[in-house]
Amino acid sequence: MTAVTIVFALMFYVVTALLLGGLAWKIAGYARTPAPLRIPTTPAPPHARGVVLRMAREVVLFESLFKSSKWIWGLGWLFHVALALVLLRHLRYFTEPVWAAVALVQPFGLYASFAMVAALAGLWARRIFVERIRYISTPSDHLMLVLLIAIGATGLAMKYVAHTDIVAAKAFMLGLLYFDWQPLPADPVLLVHLALVAALMATFPASKLLHAPGIFFSPTRNQADDSRERRHLSSWAAELER
Ligand code: HEM
Repeated sequence: MTAVTIVFALMFYVVTALLLGGLAWKIAGYARTPAPLRIPTTPAPPHARGVVLRMAREVVLFESLFKSSKWIWGLGWLFHVALALVLLRHLRYFTEPVWAAVALVQPFGLYASFAMVAALAGLWARRIFVERIRYISTPSDHLMLVLLIAIGATGLAMKYVAHTDIVAAKAFMLGLLYFDWQPLPADPVLLVHLALVAALMATFPASKLLHAPGIFFSPTRNQADDSRERRHLSSWAAELER
């Protein structure tokens, strides 16, 4: 077992714990946070069924972003769909035998890699060149975009420039899952790709990328507009009425 294998194996266990533990912690915090006022962005559906549909349109189509900016919607939606395809393509490294759907998605995942990096580059250019957006951009806004671009670029570099032993890379990943460690190829581009992914996993629960679970807890989106049908009474106000 090489030192590189041991360092990367331990690193992946640590960052997986950070990612899962951090997400659980944050989501528990969101779930506990009171939302005492009805503040759905109107027009909003009056029933729970409508809220589920509205949330689905928001999550799948980015509806409100579409209404506010076609450019950002185009780039943002393209990035997210491409990322989903890229991750589906990567499932081949974590499954044996590879599922039929994952085999089917392989070429689309590859086209999506280019779309993903291009969309990220567009989103980053917006933060650099649009003065109004540059003014409100924080270092972490830039950092997350650069991190994702670097992950995509090193992935594409492996595919087209500096090939790695993907069979051995897969054996390493499966070995981590089954606690039966296998050697990791020490190709620099693969090591950088994996180290960047680990950095993304570790920082995810403390980053703006928390909008992924956070959207489901957003009161302006997850509430029904039923304040005329139902009276909302806080517990202390109910006490006063007695
Ligand atoms: C956030 C997570 C990740 C993203 C966004 C990402 C992105 C990419 C992209 C865009 C490519 C180029 C297209 C392709 O060949 O598929 C790629 C290639 C690759 N990725 Fe990832 N990756 C991620 C995680 C991982 C992980 C956890 C592994 C561990 C096995 C991995 C291993 C590889 C390998 C071996 C290649 C080269 C494929 C080839 O040469 O055909 N990636 N990655």
